[in-house]
Amino acid sequence: MAGFVRVVDILDGAHDGAKVRVRGWLYNKRSSGGIQFLSVRDGTAVVQCTLNRRDLGEEVFREVEGLPLESTVVLEGVVNVDERAPDGREVSVASVVETVAAMLDFPITKQEHGVEFLMDNRHLYVRNPRIQAVMRIRAKFMEVARGWFRDHDYTETQSPMFITAACEGGSTLFNVEYFEREGVYLSQSWQLYAEAMISTLGKIYTIAPSFRAEPSRTRRHLSEFWHLEVEEPWQDLAGITAVGDELVAHIGHTLAREMPRELRLVGRDPEDLLALETPFPRVSYDEAVEIVQSEGVDMYWGDDFGWQQEGPLTKRFDTPFWIVGFPTGIKPFYHLPNPERPDVTMSADLMAPEGYGEIIGGGQRVHEYEQLLSRIDEDGLDPEDYSWYVDLRRWGTVPHSGFGLGVERVVMWMCKLDHIRDAVPFPRDMRRIVP
Ligand code: 4AD
Ligand code: MG
Repeated sequence: MAGFVRVVDILDGAHDGAKVRVRGWLYNKRSSGGIQFLSVRDGTAVVQCTLNRRDLGEEVFREVEGLPLESTVVLEGVVNVDERAPDGREVSVASVVETVAAMLDFPITKQEHGVEFLMDNRHLYVRNPRIQAVMRIRAKFMEVARGWFRDHDYTETQSPMFITAACEGGSTLFNVEYFEREGVYLSQSWQLYAEAMISTLGKIYTIAPSFRAEPSRTRRHLSEFWHLEVEEPWQDLAGITAVGDELVAHIGHTLAREMPRELRLVGRDPEDLLALETPFPRVSYDEAVEIVQSEGVDMYWGDDFGWQQEGPLTKRFDTPFWIVGFPTGIKPFYHLPNPERPDVTMSADLMAPEGYGEIIGGGQRVHEYEQLLSRIDEDGLDPEDYSWYVDLRRWGTVPHSGFGLGVERVVMWMCKLDHIRDAVPFPRDMRRIVP
């Protein structure tokens, strides 16, 4: 019995009937008669450990009984399959090897706490098993995405976080004090730099933070979020949305297969994700507006979708779906106007079902020099700010496309969370920057 076993492996049945050594934090406890039930969290999951006064003797039993929550324990015992235990398995403790008592009054108790209280204590609340499960799913998400890109011949590359030219419009830019220089901001998207890098690396992706000074307080906006972005030369709208299909379905299927216990713990039936089928449906922007209107929600052609519109629209679907062809007036300058119908762009957003809404935004880029200059002008931007970006159209420009996927948005949907803040360990929004 060398070393310690992982709690998650106990729950997965790897040690049934075996004598094991477990270490962890005392997450919860209760006692009844001569028995104590300890919930022990080891960084992989939480397992119930049962102590019997008769077996351990009065002194040890008392010592453990006096341990405050979040004390650390080292226990030895046998793994029993027991339907009454929370995950169908428990450790029947034969000896208490070591305990280190925490201080009294861990602030998070079994009672109901308000959201503000839990957010103020986020540094402690991250120990909650639900948050733990989401963060493990999030980690797997990143790993699976990287694996998919590796298997499909993409190269990972990075862009700077300090930037001078807005990608997604000026209204959500964070200003940065950057030595003596004015007009420095935090990146909203790697895209403009990605368009430079495709000429040297071909198909590329990144997973990095993006920043948006979102003045709105909603359940799906963060001011700092993780952005998975893709850019490809010689790629059109149909091709890039197919990439989104395959990537999202692959991530969903793999999470369902590899993390079913964590998904169930957070309230998502893994079958929902296994059922993802590609290609996801395509709905034109025009049709989507009609659907929203038919639901009795205010919207005119040319408006963007807010959550008031996306909610009723996405509740109609039980699969992700693309909205294709957004009006040129509501998309940034880099979107390629449809050559057959210049009032709309070759753009597409992927919507998650069940009211979750936009998880991907992207499309085909303007690749011709003159057209790009006039789009910059029409958007009222200063061409000076974009001079290096325009250079990319002078030498070796090709049709190209890409998209950005909000990692927390997808985790939120796949984990069926009510609020985006629980898809990231330490959320940042308009009002929250501590802890
Ligand atoms: O639709 P967006 O703004 O598109 C872009 O930034 C493109 N330049 C991406 C590209 O083509 N390379 O953002 C892309 C995605 C959204 O669909 C959403 O999932 C997520 O990023 N996102 C946010 N997630 C959380 N909080 C916010 N404030 C977000 N803003 C965008
Ligand atoms: Mg968008």
